Amino acid sequence: MARSGVEAGSGLKGRCRVPGDKSISHRAALFSVLAEGTTRLTGYSLAADCQASLGAVRALGGSVASRDGELWLSPPARSRSLAAGGLEIDCARSGTTMRLLVGMLAGRPGEFFLSGDPQLLKRPMARVADPIRSMGARVELSPAATAPITIRGQSLHAIHHTPAVASAQVKSAVLLAGLQAQGETAVEEPILTRDHTERLLAMMGARLERELIGRSGLVRIRPGPLQPLTLAIPGDASSAAVIAAAAALVPGSDVVIEQVSLNPTRIRFLEVLERMGAGVEMEVGEPGSDLEPWGRVRVRQRPLRAVRVGAEEVPHLIDELPLLGLLATQAEGITQVTGAGELRVKESDRITGLVDGLRTLGAEAEELADGFTVVGGSSLLGGLCDSLGDHRLAMTFSLAGLISQQPVRVLGREFIPDSFPGFEACLRKLG
Ligand code: S3P
Repeated sequence: MARSGVEAGSGLKGRCRVPGDKSISHRAALFSVLAEGTTRLTGYSLAADCQASLGAVRALGGSVASRDGELWLSPPARSRSLAAGGLEIDCARSGTTMRLLVGMLAGRPGEFFLSGDPQLLKRPMARVADPIRSMGARVELSPAATAPITIRGQSLHAIHHTPAVASAQVKSAVLLAGLQAQGETAVEEPILTRDHTERLLAMMGARLERELIGRSGLVRIRPGPLQPLTLAIPGDASSAAVIAAAAALVPGSDVVIEQVSLNPTRIRFLEVLERMGAGVEMEVGEPGSDLEPWGRVRVRQRPLRAVRVGAEEVPHLIDELPLLGLLATQAEGITQVTGAGELRVKESDRITGLVDGLRTLGAEAEELADGFTVVGGSSLLGGLCDSLGDHRLAMTFSLAGLISQQPVRVLGREFIPDSFPGFEACLRKLG
């Protein structure tokens, strides 16, 4: 039996659901603190990262209650508003929690101290601190420009910002600060990143306008009150990608993932999988929501061919690139991913971690400064892969165990619930 914790017999078959979308869950929880009333959510992700956002809501004086499968989030009472300040918030390993909080808190009176696990304290924070400072906030980082972060809230002025790196977290932080700033704040993205912040804030009645021109996007926001959300959160597109990759790898597989987000900024991995030759069908359907399209995805295993992915596609499948590296080992030809230097500053250096792991398993893979190449058609042998404490690498190497000759042992499997609690149970159900 593959020691990765999962194994496949004659193909993965059947239907499954994945946990609620992590990006939407974080935002719905954090934005509840700003709303004028109680937010009600179903499908909130049980991922450890999303629990960090609930912890932040509590630290800020909001209340979190679970009733009949719904999460009720009430903002702090006016008398206990964020103005109390002097607060410490533990963001655990969640970069999204930390970066969004920088924008949310920058315009609030008081002092806030954001900290987290050692892994999070290594990640770059200047990308968010710099634009927020340019709005007039006081944001202090460590000498290495990482967390812990001290924020002394100030009155803010609007900016027009074009992030130096394509990042939905940076965009979101600036828009959240813009809710507190005088004037109209704008964020311009040469390549549009995931747009859950815009969709959720618009649903909450924010004074927000969007323009989409080809691949680029412009969002403008002005201060104003926010109404609470009542929202069903769809399944996580990136967790669905893990199951889709498993189905595309294991001969004979035919899998349907239900009630998953089909937000156009999140489905590029499925489109690339189809380009590689896998059978992929997406169907927008019930129950759906006003927030964004969701529905079902069917993936059938078929022979795969190599693919090229460049900078213009990367922001739409950034979290799925390790899976693509694994799929490439089974595809005909040489797969190349470029323009993905951001992978080096995720929960681990995912370029080095992925290439080292694939080589350990017997595949031919090379690092590039901003990506990787993988030579397809290799039979994976098995071995010990180090996920570097990174949930996405841990899941990728676990899937390798489905098709390897010998067992795959994965160091750091305990981090998989950071994004996908129930990962192994979900695969077991299918096969
Ligand atoms: C996320 C944005 C992406 C992604 C992360 C979640 C978000 O990060 O990798 O897992 O929810 O906004 P960047 O904004 O750094 O690209």
